[in-house]
Amino acid sequence: MSEPVWWQTAVIYQIYPRSFQDSNGDGIGDLPGITHSLGYLADLGIDAVWISPFYTSPMADFGYDVADYTDVDPLFGTMADFDRLLAAAHRLGIRVIVDIVPNHTSDQHPWFLESRSSTDNAKRDWYIWRDAGPAGSTPNNWLSAFGGPAWEWDPVTAQYYLHTFVPDQPDLNWRNPAVVEAMHDVYRFWLDRGVDGFRIDVAHRIMKDPELRDNPPAPADRESTFKWMGEYESQLHIHDQGHPDIHDEYRDLRTIIDSYQPPRVLIGEVHLFELEEWAGYYGRDLGEMHMPFNFTLLYAPWTAGEVRKRVDDLEAALPPGAWPNYVLGNHDEPRLATRFGAHATRVAAMLLLTLRGTPTLYYGDELGMEQVPIKNQQDPWAVREPELGRDGCRTPMQWDSSTSAGFSAADPAQLWLPLEAEHADRNVAVQTDRPDSLLTLYRRLLALRRSMPALHRGDYTPVNSTSEDLFVFERSSGDERACIVLNFNDRPIRFDHEGFADAEPVLSTTLRRVAISGSAVSLAPHEGVIVRL
Ligand code: GLC
Ligand code: CA
Repeated sequence: MSEPVWWQTAVIYQIYPRSFQDSNGDGIGDLPGITHSLGYLADLGIDAVWISPFYTSPMADFGYDVADYTDVDPLFGTMADFDRLLAAAHRLGIRVIVDIVPNHTSDQHPWFLESRSSTDNAKRDWYIWRDAGPAGSTPNNWLSAFGGPAWEWDPVTAQYYLHTFVPDQPDLNWRNPAVVEAMHDVYRFWLDRGVDGFRIDVAHRIMKDPELRDNPPAPADRESTFKWMGEYESQLHIHDQGHPDIHDEYRDLRTIIDSYQPPRVLIGEVHLFELEEWAGYYGRDLGEMHMPFNFTLLYAPWTAGEVRKRVDDLEAALPPGAWPNYVLGNHDEPRLATRFGAHATRVAAMLLLTLRGTPTLYYGDELGMEQVPIKNQQDPWAVREPELGRDGCRTPMQWDSSTSAGFSAADPAQLWLPLEAEHADRNVAVQTDRPDSLLTLYRRLLALRRSMPALHRGDYTPVNSTSEDLFVFERSSGDERACIVLNFNDRPIRFDHEGFADAEPVLSTTLRRVAISGSAVSLAPHEGVIVRL
């Protein structure tokens, strides 16, 4: 390949700002807290942070309901705090990616307050308003992703407005050029401030069917996609998202991004199960997003065969020149350690950091943090569908063994979400001191990935093995070749490879020395090994 761009060789670390580090003792993480923790991230060996929204917000969806795209919510700090964070990160060589939420605003955004004030307001058409159907029914059958209808009745102006998420998050009308212009100004505002790129929230949702046609019912035998989403699964979501016109917007946005130097990155949250449609977001001639997030492994059954299939399918679906990426956890999904099981965390770490493409690591996964059962959930989704609540993967980062885990000076009872029960034992301080901890494994993997071109920029070739419990693949760049052998089962396995005869194992997930005998390596249950060929 030609010389890679920074985001191709980078490892991205996602920070959920409410939960990373609280600098003022109010029990909620904030921007100065992140700045304070940058040394940890530099030492861990990541290259970029993506920070979930920290803008002015009533917090109906914890910041994904934005009331001012160009200011910082006082809960998180000030614009000066953001500038300090950005400067401090750049001094350490860490890039900063911010999260833009273009599909909807808060219902408290001045644009929406104007829009809802009267039917002839100049901003009326900035949102999607429609008359009631027969007998007061909703304008069509669209459903909110968080439960219930996607339409909210507004008694003042006697029309419905569309909200893909909760009613506090009205959808913007991207078919109105004034909205497009205003949102482009938002992107420019942050680019001018010096951010290194964007993660675009529900990027595939901004353009809907212009006629707002009903979605067809889902066939009863349809395979579930990522995760079961309740009533929302009863329809095929073909008219309420991803209208082909969407690609014009991402081409235009890419042109804006590309006018900035040094190069910035455009990453989209594109939750589409059909790989072909998903791949369309790279754009014809790759002129749209640098990377639509790839979620295919999030819900993969944790077997070697299923994981390999998803990786191979992804590689096959990539248009020429498209750069892959992998995600194993984020603020919307049950913690990796709980979803796949605690036994899987080490192989998951090695998988994420040795596949071809840009990995995104969710804060706390490097410690093996688990999904925390929360009694009184705050997530607006949980209020409607308790089993889909996301609070449990958003609990405070565990820094040390003190009562509030070094996250905050506040009492544990004052933290916005409770700590994981094991926090006194599972935290940065404890795991830093243990040579065989998961955190140590992440550090070693990140350092190895950075030092080996085969790992951060090499080709990917799957290797067939006689055991269905192994996922084996090679990465190579120039003369450098590495073979990754991952055991997904709970019994030991020997793996024979002709290339191993005089090869050197460089890292095992157990962090113990591994020996090759003859041309075979013996793996413990749930062990992964990287061998330099
Ligand atoms: C995205 C975010 C999620 C948020 C939703 C609405 O899926 O990742 O946290 O609730 O969009 O903005
Ligand atoms: Ca705080």
